[in-house]
Formats: sequence, structure tokens, C-alpha cells
Amino acid sequence: MKYYILFGPPGAGKGTQAKQIVEKYHYLHLSTGDLLRQEMAAGTELGKKAAELINRGDLVPDEVVEGMIRNKIASNRDVAGFLFDGFPRTIAQAEALDAMLTEFGGKVDAVLSLTLPDELVYERILHRAQIEGRKDDTDRSIIENRIATYHDKTEPLITYYKGHGNYREIEGNDTIENVFAALCGILDE
Ligand code: AP5
Ligand code: MG
Repeated sequence: MKYYILFGPPGAGKGTQAKQIVEKYHYLHLSTGDLLRQEMAAGTELGKKAAELINRGDLVPDEVVEGMIRNKIASNRDVAGFLFDGFPRTIAQAEALDAMLTEFGGKVDAVLSLTLPDELVYERILHRAQIEGRKDDTDRSIIENRIATYHDKTEPLITYYKGHGNYREIEGNDTIENVFAALCGILDE
């Protein structure tokens, strides 16, 4: 069982690339953002609580996303692997994931990190706002908060995973096709 993390700032192309990767390699795509948006759409208690935080551009509590990921890993033991998208996002989540995978007899096989400068994050997200209508995409100050949260809470994971020796960086400011080719190059090694 393989476990890969697709890492990067908001708008880096994680979701776009994840769709293509799982089609080719038959991994299960686990996006905590997508799972939370499903809860919001269904109007569950969890979804209502998450909506307040997400629509401000803040993170939801670690325990919430850790629980979601654990349930998905535990209930899908017959897949070729997992592709995490948007998780982990804090050092605490990364530590929880390591502990979880040890329990399931696995480990993080690689962190695939898409890079993108902040100016391009705005450009891409404001463009997507017109297509998908995500509430956290529409307001410049919310995007600003998502970027600041990324630098503050999520970027430290780069040092964390470099220390584990399985961190790979991919230039995100390229065509969708070129980024996909670079990712496949790593996955095929
Ligand atoms: P989440 O849904 O994970 O959002 P995000 O990290 O902000 O990332 P995005 O989905 O915005 O970007 P992406 O990298 O997937 O880019 P995409 O492929 O769509 O999280 C949302 C919220 O949920 C968080 O803010 C938080 O509140 C909460 N949350 C989620 N996970 C959490 C966790 N683990 N802990 C706590 N809270 C959590 O591409 C973006 C746009 O660019 C698209 O329009 C696309 O078509 C375009 N594009 C993609 N690639 C290219 C390219 N190569 N060239 C040109 N355009 C491109
Ligand atoms: Mg996404």
C-alpha cells in the first residue's frame, strides 16, 4: 500500500493533478477540503462548524481532519494506495499521520510538493472563483488569510519532511501537462 502526499499552497494545482494521478495509478484521492465541503453541502453539524472557519480562510481543528482521514484509511484497505491532498497541514497533523500509518503498517512514501509564488496563487484562485463559486475563493482578504495561514502553519512541514528524506519539489508554475509529467516521473521511479 502506497501513501503519497500532494503538498502545496492554495491554488498550486493539487486538486487538478490529483484527479489525473488517481486515474492513472488507481490510488484513492483523499482531499480534506473536498470532504469538508461535502459535509457543508449536506448541512451536517460538522459542516456548519467547518463552514465558519473555511469561509474565513482559517484551518479547521486538527482532530476533525485526522478523524476523517483515519476513517477513510480504515475503510479502504483494498486500494493500491492513497493520495492525500490538503492533508497534513500542520506539524501536529503530520505527526498524527505518521502514527496512523505505522498502525496500518505503512509510511509516507513521498511528499510531492508543488511550488507557486503568492502572486500566482491570487491569480489562479480568483480565476477559479468565477468557475466553481467556492466562497473562500471570492474575497481577496480571505485568500490573503489562506496564504498567511499556509506560510505560518503549513510551510514548516517542508522542513519536517525534508528531515524524513522523502520530500520532492515540483515547479507548479508550468502547464498542467508538464506538472503531471514531472509528478509521473517521480511516481514511476
Ligand atoms: P482546500 O480545499 O484544501 O484548499 P487549498 O489548500 O486552499 O487548495 P485549493 O483547493 O484552493 O487549491 P489546489 O491546490 O487544489 O488547486 P487547484 O487544482 O484547484 O482547503 C480549503 C479549506 O478547508 C482550508 O482553507 C481549511 O479551512 C480547510 N481544510 C482543508 N484541509 C484541512 C486540513 N488538513 N486541516 C485543517 N483545515 C483544512 O487549482 C486552482 C486553479 O488553478 C484551478 O482553477 C485550476 O484549473 C487552475 N490550475 C491548476 N493547475 C494549473 C496550471 N498548471 N496552470 C494554470 N492553471 C492551473
Ligand atoms: Mg484543492
